[in-house]
Amino acid sequence: MIVITGATGALGGATVEHLLKCLSADQIGVSVRDVAKAQQFADRGVRVRRGSYDDPAALRDSFEGAEQILLVSQNDPGGDGISLHRNAIEAAVAEGTQRILYTSHQNARGDSPFAPSHEHAATEALLAESGVAWTSLRNGFYAHSLDWLLGPWQQTGVITAPADGPVSWTDRADAAEAAAIILTGQHPVDGPVTLTARRAVTFDDIATTAAELTGRDITRVVIDDEQWLADRIAAGTPEQMAHLLLWFFHAARHGHFSETDPLLAELLHREPRTVADLLTDRINTRVPNTM
Ligand SMILES: NC(=O)c1ccc[n+]([C@@H]2O[C@H](COP(=O)([O-])OP(=O)(O)OC[C@H]3O[C@@H](n4cnc5c(N)ncnc54)[C@H](OP(=O)(O)O)[C@@H]3O)[C@@H](O)[C@H]2O)c1
Repeated sequence: MIVITGATGALGGATVEHLLKCLSADQIGVSVRDVAKAQQFADRGVRVRRGSYDDPAALRDSFEGAEQILLVSQNDPGGDGISLHRNAIEAAVAEGTQRILYTSHQNARGDSPFAPSHEHAATEALLAESGVAWTSLRNGFYAHSLDWLLGPWQQTGVITAPADGPVSWTDRADAAEAAAIILTGQHPVDGPVTLTARRAVTFDDIATTAAELTGRDITRVVIDDEQWLADRIAAGTPEQMAHLLLWFFHAARHGHFSETDPLLAELLHREPRTVADLLTDRINTRVPNTM
């Protein structure tokens, strides 16, 4: 059995959907905080058990019989991710799991200006010490984060943001499909692997692409960090989230998210989605770029 955590979230849920296309439902389990939210999987024959990273007994029960586990990283910026992930890894080891896959982040390192990177690096160290085979999916920065970072450029024709750097923006649905491909043994990989789009682009590049796609002038304006932070908070972005977004710019301008790797394309047997694909979707659906 393959057990997916975070299956009531976006990446975990999409991974289950991919697994259902190539495995029978009784080979798949989900470990979720709220089993009611996973009813659609239970209805299709997937084993649904309660599992929360702060509840070791429930985790063990939800991991019972799992040969592989996809451990989706916790998503609370104020949470103690290292302790929570340690609980999950210990439960997996106790249940005799043969491999743990973990959703990490590209360039996970303890000294990154982007704080979530520290949690990912520490979790990878726990996996390395666990004695169980492990794969760390160092996913590229999710491209849909641009919905929050670019601001309302479709309305204003201006992308106003702090100084940035090249980022290999990666589609979350592509990352979920890649996780399923690895879990089903179609392309086994071991240890930390980087899964990104083919190209790293800056906000200047994105403004150029947006102008080409819309036929309008789209201007990139660099704004002072503190001004941007104050504007965001004044516009209603929660303070903790606004700081997290600013750390992104600090890390990006030092090249922390510029790495690209061909592995994602190799796993998918197609080109990963690009920022131009995302912008095209947004232009067609007129999704507002605000947070
Ligand atoms: N590469 C990137 O750019 C990037 C960007 C953002 C996030 N991430 C990371 O990637 C992960 C997956 O992304 P996503 O978009 O699928 O996030 P998501 O939709 O927020 O899903 C996260 C899932 O993790 C579960 N979860 C959170 N804390 C948990 C806990 N203490 N115990 C058990 N389950 C817990 C959530 O459960 P509930 O459904 O009960 O809430 C949810 O199902 C995120 O959690 C985050 O760590 C990466």
